[in-house]
Amino acid sequence: MARRRGACFGRAAAKDGGAARAGVRARGTLNLGSTVPDFSAETTQGPISWHDYIGGSWSVLFSHPADFTPVCTTELGSVATFLPEFERRGVKVAALSCNDTESHKAWIKDIEATNFAGGNKIAYPIISDPGRDVAVLYGMLDPEEKDEEGLPMTCRAVFIIKPDKSLALSILYPATTGRNFSEVLRVLDSLQLTSDFSVATPADWSSGQPCMVVPSLSDDEAAKKFKKGFKRMDVPSGKGYLRMTEDPSKE
Ligand code: BEZ
Repeated sequence: MARRRGACFGRAAAKDGGAARAGVRARGTLNLGSTVPDFSAETTQGPISWHDYIGGSWSVLFSHPADFTPVCTTELGSVATFLPEFERRGVKVAALSCNDTESHKAWIKDIEATNFAGGNKIAYPIISDPGRDVAVLYGMLDPEEKDEEGLPMTCRAVFIIKPDKSLALSILYPATTGRNFSEVLRVLDSLQLTSDFSVATPADWSSGQPCMVVPSLSDDEAAKKFKKGFKRMDVPSGKGYLRMTEDPSKE
């Protein structure tokens, strides 16, 4: 497996220098609402400047432990199958793996040959991070999972980024558990809806189902905002905080 630690080729360069890097070095310190760090790197579709690539769109960055590993191969295939669904939501997608572009391009042939890709091409960029610069910048390294050289691998991270480049959501999975990309699309539906309307989405919600009125909205405001009004659920406390309304994007 080709790996070029510290090489210029494929090496990500943090544009915002040491301060941003220090701020996100430890896992979990990339906070919701903070501007995601910018970086430059090689990808399977040429050089990328992350902030330029995402522009003013919603975007998803997801990382993988390494090229030519079984679960990752199924995941990248699955994303190729779901790509039209991401595009329909105006979401830019990129994957990251800590190998170089030559390795990624060879791996793509395997990914496209699996049923998970469903005959689709890998039409989204795979970012090369052989020096693990982006992985460190985004706090993606999994200290429990080491490669054959004893270096920490990236976990399976999902970062969903808003059009203003702030972090809307992050999920970290261990290397041994493949992600559910239907769930990633479901949370995108919730994030996009709740950024446009004063609602929150309940457990197991999917697009079109009833939503909750956010607690910050008074009953009067809710009655004005939602064409179909809202229904209050009775609960023993009598506090009246459970208010349901139709999915306002479907009104
Ligand atoms: C995988 O992608 O299959 C994998 C990678 C690292 C550890 C375990 C599984």
